[in-house]
Amino acid sequence: MSLLHDQRPVFVVDFGAQYAQLIARRVRECKVYSEIVPCDIAPEELRRRDPAALILSGGPASVYAEDAPGMDPEIYELGVPILGLCYGMQLMALDLGGAVPRTDVGEYGFAELTVDAPDSAIFDGLPVTQQVWMSHRDSVGTVPKGFRATAHTGTTAIAAMEDPKRRLYATQFHPEVAHTPHGQEMLRRFLHDVADIAPTWTMVNIIDEVTESVRAKVGDARVICGLSGGVDSSVVAALLHRAIGDQLTCVFVDHGMLRLDEAEQVAHVFRDNFHVDLVHVQAEARYLGLLAGVTDPEEKRRIIGEEFWRVFFEEATKLEGVRFLAQGTLYPDVIESGPGKAAKIKSHHNLIPFPEGVHFDLIEPLRSLFKDEVREVGAELGLPDEIVHRQPFPGPGLAVRIIGGITAEKLDTLRLADAIVREEIGRWDENREVWQYFAVLPDIRSVGVMGDERTYGHPIIIRAVASADAMTADWARLPHDLLAKMSNRIINEVPGINRVAYDITSKPPGTIEWE
Ligand code: XMP
Repeated sequence: MSLLHDQRPVFVVDFGAQYAQLIARRVRECKVYSEIVPCDIAPEELRRRDPAALILSGGPASVYAEDAPGMDPEIYELGVPILGLCYGMQLMALDLGGAVPRTDVGEYGFAELTVDAPDSAIFDGLPVTQQVWMSHRDSVGTVPKGFRATAHTGTTAIAAMEDPKRRLYATQFHPEVAHTPHGQEMLRRFLHDVADIAPTWTMVNIIDEVTESVRAKVGDARVICGLSGGVDSSVVAALLHRAIGDQLTCVFVDHGMLRLDEAEQVAHVFRDNFHVDLVHVQAEARYLGLLAGVTDPEEKRRIIGEEFWRVFFEEATKLEGVRFLAQGTLYPDVIESGPGKAAKIKSHHNLIPFPEGVHFDLIEPLRSLFKDEVREVGAELGLPDEIVHRQPFPGPGLAVRIIGGITAEKLDTLRLADAIVREEIGRWDENREVWQYFAVLPDIRSVGVMGDERTYGHPIIIRAVASADAMTADWARLPHDLLAKMSNRIINEVPGINRVAYDITSKPPGTIEWE
């Protein structure tokens, strides 16, 4: 189910930009609904979908490359306001009769922009000189007929251009990145002032709209939802409960690999606070049986994933009248566009291993949302902070943070140590800089001495990283006193641990998790 929205969308036309999703998010931060579409989208399709504006993304290609992605020029004739960014600006210039001479002078990184037309709608009220972020080789040499150049930098004579009559605007720099401090303001001016779009995309509106569309789709059927304790499934559950109340049943498969008190918290929040009909399946013993002696991380993941669906469908098929299965699929999971790729919206149906003779229709109420929007919806719905701002946590849970075989005893050990790490870093007032922090239990033992006794115990490894998106990460520079405190507490409070190590590997070459 897609999130039907009253607001006409702004399409980010994707020319293979690394920033396409970021542009869409920035547009949404202006309270305007936005989607990514591939650049080979046909004019008829655009006309049918009636966007309120287009933003042409950047792209890795040179406009002169043999397979340089383009867009049907008829699209400029639709009367839709367009903002071209970087490659999008060059393409706009070429398509409309301007010139983009080949130069060998690129411009990468920070640049000082001078606005030559302060009356331009997108620069209105912004500083005449300001910092922007550039990343390009070619640039526009002559603007198309009807356009005027509106800004320059030391290297790039035409760093922005516009034809206000046709509502066509373009910048060579990237307003969407944080390195362009006034970039968001420019986007806002383009969307609100130039394209005249009302800022009505808010989380409150989204909740109302999802509620309406879920009610319309579900009627009086029952919906089942797998709850994991993670942000996405929790928000789906809270949202659906708001929409259809008792028609929702949540199945919480507790695989026993969660952190200290997490399972109780999930049960408490949904059963006691939200009064959701919750089936809490305590399956730790079952999982431990399956995992006994398994040391390969992929094998652990496979076993845990498959067993989840087995347990889930055992419960689901006990209930009468279930027609729908709700899933926490997010927008980045479904979008696949860019040059050469059709506007494929991936179906998650085929990822669900329905047993013979069982089938439910999918409900995916978060399908249009980015993760930060899901968190906002969660907060708006009254989910507690621990869930809304939960750190990323692998589905297979502590199973991937215990290296080697998994036993109930090792799980207890890791849970205790991990709770100490979370408590201590959680108390540190600069912990906002840390993306993720946890403990790992490796499969080694070493000699130590405690009191007068020789010990032969396991170490605990503390992992704490700074990151923006988990794609790259740096180890967090935790204060020595904090490390000392955690080390002391872990050794004193967690039986069997005689050593604590801190992981000082960045990603790459390391990963965030150990496995
Ligand atoms: P790595 O270890 O590859 O992890 O650097 C990148 C990010 O992904 C998280 N992660 C997972 N998240 N299910 C998830 O939802 C998983 O199976 C999973 N495995 C890793 C990891 O915690 C980090 O934030």
